[in-house]
Amino acid sequence: MDRVSPKPSEGDVNLSPRRAAWQAAMLDEPTRALLAEDARYFLHQALSTPCLTALRRCEGIYLEDLQGRRYMDFHGNSVHQVGFGNPAVVAAVKAQLDVLSFCPRRFTNEPAVALARKLAQLAPGDLRKVLFCPSGTGAIGIALKLARTVTGRYKTVSMWDAFHGASLDAISVGGEELFRRDIGPLLPGTEHVPPPDPYRCLWDCQARGGCDLKCAAYIEYVLEKEGDVAAVVAETVRATPVIPRREFWQAVRAACDRHGALLVLDEIPTALGRTGAMFACEHYGVVPDILVLGKGLGGGIMPLAAVLARERFDVAADRALGHYTHEKSPVAAAAALATLQYIEDHGLVERARVLGQHAMERLRVMQVRHPLIGDVRGLGLLLGVELVTDRATRAKATAEAEAVMYAALARGLSFKVSMGNVLTLAPPLVITRAELDRALDILDDSLTEVERHR
Ligand SMILES: Cc1ncc(COP(=O)(O)O)c(C=O)c1O
Repeated sequence: MDRVSPKPSEGDVNLSPRRAAWQAAMLDEPTRALLAEDARYFLHQALSTPCLTALRRCEGIYLEDLQGRRYMDFHGNSVHQVGFGNPAVVAAVKAQLDVLSFCPRRFTNEPAVALARKLAQLAPGDLRKVLFCPSGTGAIGIALKLARTVTGRYKTVSMWDAFHGASLDAISVGGEELFRRDIGPLLPGTEHVPPPDPYRCLWDCQARGGCDLKCAAYIEYVLEKEGDVAAVVAETVRATPVIPRREFWQAVRAACDRHGALLVLDEIPTALGRTGAMFACEHYGVVPDILVLGKGLGGGIMPLAAVLARERFDVAADRALGHYTHEKSPVAAAAALATLQYIEDHGLVERARVLGQHAMERLRVMQVRHPLIGDVRGLGLLLGVELVTDRATRAKATAEAEAVMYAALARGLSFKVSMGNVLTLAPPLVITRAELDRALDILDDSLTEVERHR
């Protein structure tokens, strides 16, 4: 096995020899021609152009490329809770386009108000004030500004390795080297702490006989030392996934309260049923002060994100917190209303919970058979398989993870590799048990193939 590993990063690597080999074997002339045009006109950047291949259709759990090959999509940029091209969402968008396709900022409209009301009803606690914008990154920016306005403070505590979007404010609180390197000064006052990662705990919990929440204690330590932190900003569960213990968020919630800091939870990729709860924070019995949603909120069709805040935080009437052109897009709101309705009508939250348990059982069995698997973890249909070259040292199997990804892709299963070595499985919540089993069979076969060639 080639040990020259791609640089571990949030996604798969778009310039690796393994990608070139996959393309050489799989792509026909028309696809190559389109990829060349893509590379000619788009600015090249990590994780996108140059692209892997080109798509012509998406439907349900499937993507279809120009050559007619279909892939079960266990990545979907986390927009596909209700599946691609969900007929209910498409119909709602089409109907709205015929009536009111845009709403300039000084006006409001029925779908936008209905969506704000619906989210306020669904959200935990008193998160009853809402602001929309077209991207998760923008919503994080709004949350940061609101936290500053509410507290009169500007500092934040957030986590290394976290992702909150690609803009300068979002990468300032984000913790990924790929986004932060070589880009110049970031926001001041953005303290970072280690993530609560049970498998790679910096405080070596396992060796000390179990978790005693040093990671949460350290956050409180920083809150106390700084003394004037506006907010702790974090993903409730990382989409990679990293799943903290229940007590972690309870301890951090209490620490925020003790030190006058707000708790801002980013559930952009993980809310709306993904984890087997409508909102991931429900698993932890905590209510954040600000909850940020996005991704699948627009049904995988319309770009839409939302900031949900406590009722008493409605304190910025004389300032612009968001001010986005598409702030109250009636079409995006119609898509979101149809999406939420679909999730409720089809029991997708419960489905994610049940199918997630089934997947975890199968992954644990695979772990026994595949020496490459160091850890399996999941919450609902947010699943991770961490590959290591050595279970004792937990050395990351980055080259192997990439090889498994391409082996699976060749068999019709697409997923993302996170942190260089974590196979990240996030299927649409509309997936059937039989389809999920087929995908896990593909994963199993792909692992076997890669292990055979090591
Ligand atoms: C946790 C998290 N926060 C924020 C964002 C940014 O969302 P967007 O790409 O819609 O700006 C993402 C996107 O991947 C995300 O995963």
